[in-house]
This record gives sequence, C-alpha cells and structure tokens, in this order.
Amino acid sequence: MTILQKVLFGTAVAVGAVAITNLVFFPNKWKAALMSIFNSPVGYYLIRLFKSQKKQLSKRDPMISGHLEIRIVPTLEDNYTYLIIDREQKTVIAIDPGLNILDELEPFTLIAILNTHKHWDHTCGNLDLYKKYPNVKVYGSEIDFQAGINNIYNKITNKVKDGDEIEVGRCSIKVISTPCHTKGSVMFLVDPVNSLRLAGMYDQIEKLGLAASNWNPLAPLLFTGDTLFLGGCGRFFEGNATDMYKIVHKLTKILATNTYIFPGHEYTFDNLAFAKLLDPSSVAIELAYNHARDCKRLNFPTVPGDWGQELQTNPYLLVDYKGKDLALWKYAMKRAEKAGIVEGIRKLVVETLPKDAPEYAIQEMVMIGCIRTLKDSFVNPNK
Ligand SMILES: [Fe+2]
Repeated sequence: MTILQKVLFGTAVAVGAVAITNLVFFPNKWKAALMSIFNSPVGYYLIRLFKSQKKQLSKRDPMISGHLEIRIVPTLEDNYTYLIIDREQKTVIAIDPGLNILDELEPFTLIAILNTHKHWDHTCGNLDLYKKYPNVKVYGSEIDFQAGINNIYNKITNKVKDGDEIEVGRCSIKVISTPCHTKGSVMFLVDPVNSLRLAGMYDQIEKLGLAASNWNPLAPLLFTGDTLFLGGCGRFFEGNATDMYKIVHKLTKILATNTYIFPGHEYTFDNLAFAKLLDPSSVAIELAYNHARDCKRLNFPTVPGDWGQELQTNPYLLVDYKGKDLALWKYAMKRAEKAGIVEGIRKLVVETLPKDAPEYAIQEMVMIGCIRTLKDSFVNPNK
C-alpha cells in the first residue's frame, strides 16, 4: 500500500466510523448509513479483502456477434463481468470488472471499461486495469460517477448520459439511462450491425457465421447491470416503483425481442422460483425455472437471456392492469394484501405522481412496488 493509499484508507475508515455512529444513534436511518459505508472507499477495501475469490463456472461456447466475441467472466460470489473481444484488432472491452481480471484479457489489449453503475462489486477492478492500461477509456454515468474520493479508485475518464452513442474500437454502443437501483444506473446496448458498418465489414455479413446456430450473431446485446436480471430486477436502493415502471416502458419501446440480456449477477434461479409463486399457471415460467435449476446443478451460467423470453417470464414485465384478472396479478395481489403492504406502497407511489395520473398506471406501479417488496423477504426453499 502506498502512503497515498494509506491516507485514503484512513479517511475511508473515518467515513465508515461516522456512518456506524449514525447507525447506532439514528436507527431509522440504518439502511442509508449502511449504503453510505458500502458506497464509500470502505466498500472498495471490504470487497478486496473479503470477496476476492472467483467462482468457477462451466465454460460455454464462445458467443460470436458479427466480428465481435462475447465472453462471460464470473467474478466475486455471483457477479458477471463481460468481455467484448475484437479478435482481428486484438482489443477487448470489459463491462463491470468487479475484480482484477488482468489474466482474462491476454493476449488482447484493453481499450475500454464500461461501468453500469457505481457499486464496488462492479468497479473494484477498474484501478488495477487502469494501472496496466493507462490509456484505457473508462465510461460511467455522469450522475453515479461524480468527482470525489471514489474516483481515485474508479478512474472514470468519460462521463455518459442517456442517448449517448459511443464508438469504442469497432464496437457501436448506445447508452440507456435507467435510474432506480442507483440514480445514475445505465444500460449499454451494443448494436452488432452498426458495429459491422463501423468496421467496414457490412458487405461481408455472409461470412460471419450466419450458419445454423442457437446464437443469433446479429441480435443486439444489452448489458443491464443491476437494474434488470433474468426473471427479476435489482433492489430499488435510490429509486422507487414509479422509476421501475418507467424503465419497463422505456425498454419495451426500444428493444427487439431477440435482444440478448446480460445482467450483472447470477440470480436467475431464485428469481424464477419467486416468479413461479406469483404465477403457478405459467408454462413459460415453469420451463424457464426448470432450465435455471438445471444450470445451477451443472454449475452453468444462465446468461445471456433474451428479451422475448423475459417478456413472458419476468414478473416486472408482466404487470399489466388489463390482465388483472389473470393469475399473476391475482396471486401477487393476494400475497401483498396478506403482507399488509398495498396501502403503504400506494401512498408512496401517489406522492411521486401528478394528481391527474391515470388509475391503471397507479395500479401497475403499486403492483411493481408490491412484487419488489415481497421479493425482498423471499427465501428460495429449493436453494
Ligand atoms: Fe448494484
């Protein structure tokens, strides 16, 4: 540890001590206090000290997308880092490096890091990678990554916002702002066809492996961080049910059903076990659950998923007031009423909306809030 790092570590401990004092004397603010500890450099050191092991998963075939290859790298307990490799150019882009993943990059040169949000389990590897590749561009949202002590570790060089289109090497990426899990959460949408144009290879499309395969090499790729998981969504740490409702509608307008979904964690089995409780009549959820259960047994990643399947199996995407007589709405509402959470959530939702907000939208937001709250206390009995 250098002197500067020791000073920073000391400062981090002091910040942590203040936060713990807050926790003792203001118990109502315990969640905010815990999050402030986790989001300070204390969280960076905690992860490096206690969570640095990598879990090994069974390897899957390389995923080829136009001239790019996508690699899944499991990090920490259940995080995923993703690599986008341009084999011809020998370059690589890392998405959410939760650890030092230098050994995974060889023989390629790292040209960019994309961070979906500020949590350390997604950025803890930034500093090590930056030291080895000082010219690397590090992208993160302007809201989550403001100037300050954390940037000594995050090394953000390029701030992004909603709608930005960035070109990294021969990869074309669109930024989609999705504030809820954190205020500055973003998703990165890679467009393989645009990337091929960028590479001047669009006329070679036939040579790029369009032969029969269960992987569609020209489908868009969406890296969702902790905002959306397969079969579920992330906790609303800095947002609420209204924010999640807006995200669901935004994504539904933008995404093609064949879009591959690459989430930040392997939570699929638990998420679908919970989804099955909400709608035991859904064959789509049952099949997806069985697949996730088998993947878990075989130590095989469930990622990526695809948007078409998510539209049929992810409870947050199935909330539709017009379908309130169907199983999911009925089962979920029955559980929420039994838990006594509906009125409280409705009050919170209404506070976020203008007075003339339509009732169907309020109901859908309340349902999203109820499902998220029920999930917070759900324990998968088959884990
Ligand atoms: Fe997170």
